Amino acid sequence: MKIILVAGARPNFMKIAPLMAAFQEKPGIQTVLVHTGQHYDQAMSELFFRELEIPEPEINLGVGSASHAVQTAEIMKAFEPVLLAEKPDAVLVVGDVNSTIACGLVAVKLEVKLIHVEAGLRSFDQSMPEEINRLLTDTISDLLFCSERSGVENLRHEGVAEEKIHLVGNVMIDTLLKNRGKAEHSKILDDLHLNDGRPYAVVTLHRPSNVDSPGQLRGIMAVLAEIAREMPVVFPVHPRTRSRLDGYGNRGAVPLFLTDPLGYLDFLKLMAHARVVLTDSGGIQEETTILGIPCLTLRDNTERPITVEMGTNRLVGADPVRILDSFHEVHSGAERAKRIARRPPLWDGRAAERIADILRR
Ligand code: UD1
Repeated sequence: MKIILVAGARPNFMKIAPLMAAFQEKPGIQTVLVHTGQHYDQAMSELFFRELEIPEPEINLGVGSASHAVQTAEIMKAFEPVLLAEKPDAVLVVGDVNSTIACGLVAVKLEVKLIHVEAGLRSFDQSMPEEINRLLTDTISDLLFCSERSGVENLRHEGVAEEKIHLVGNVMIDTLLKNRGKAEHSKILDDLHLNDGRPYAVVTLHRPSNVDSPGQLRGIMAVLAEIAREMPVVFPVHPRTRSRLDGYGNRGAVPLFLTDPLGYLDFLKLMAHARVVLTDSGGIQEETTILGIPCLTLRDNTERPITVEMGTNRLVGADPVRILDSFHEVHSGAERAKRIARRPPLWDGRAAERIADILRR
């Protein structure tokens, strides 16, 4: 069985890593790794391949950044000849980025089987580009691998045939558990002078809904400045956010540690020792759940409800007062949050292995 695996943007790389490893371990699956080039900076892409020991992609489409329509179209144009030449039995896509839907569409139009890993997640908020990508990719997929039970329920509700759906666990958590020990060797806490055990907060922010509106971004930055009066706030800045912040003059007033995007191991260590993480990322809600670190999600909804039901995640939206109140609650009860965090079913480091077994069957 020949499978093309597609990786495009940063959150894809931690999902592709365990799949490549599991497929290469099992006889009977031949892999071709395609990088669309949606993310291309050394810090957003190459570093992750190196740290996670992902083999060099056989093919790089080199598409880069553009508007949604142009980026999606360029990926489709570049991916079609690859499929025609490689003639795989299946294309496997992960997550919910533009590369996911673009390559999925090309596959089904050429009647190549489509496999979606991390299927069924729904925020029920179609103003998020990722929600559109998730809905469309799931509709056209032949095999849908879910990370949590809500994904299975959503797909059933949408009428997806039962035999296509498999609850296998979370491949992103496979990568976390594999690298947790290695990440402890990172020197990031020394570099940031945070190695003396004092509490600190970690922030990530990149959703268009938070960073593309100057008013919203200004409100969030003001509340981060408030938090920084109580503990250091480390904020590795995504390129999208960096470009928005460049127009924002007031950030030097209170010392936030603004850094460039960090590699996987540095960021994992930073999260694992934080008092609290504030984020609008999807994957970080899952990672903090496994690490037992309180997570305040600066969104009104989540497509990963299990992180709220079983984990350490709280939805706090983008209202500065609510963020600050939640920060104070969490700060005082952080140890308790750590104790009550439970591991969602099948988030055990073996999701990719289950997927490989199902594919071979
Ligand atoms: C994309 C995904 C989002 C994911 C996020 C993680 C979609 C619709 N969005 O959003 O789901 O959570 O990746 O990062 O697919 N840029 C660089 N270097 C890079 C990549 C991007 O400087 O390597 C800059 C470009 O100016 C670009 C901007 O960042 O315009 C945004 O990148 P883009 O890939 O369009 O979307 P993300 O916000 O990263």
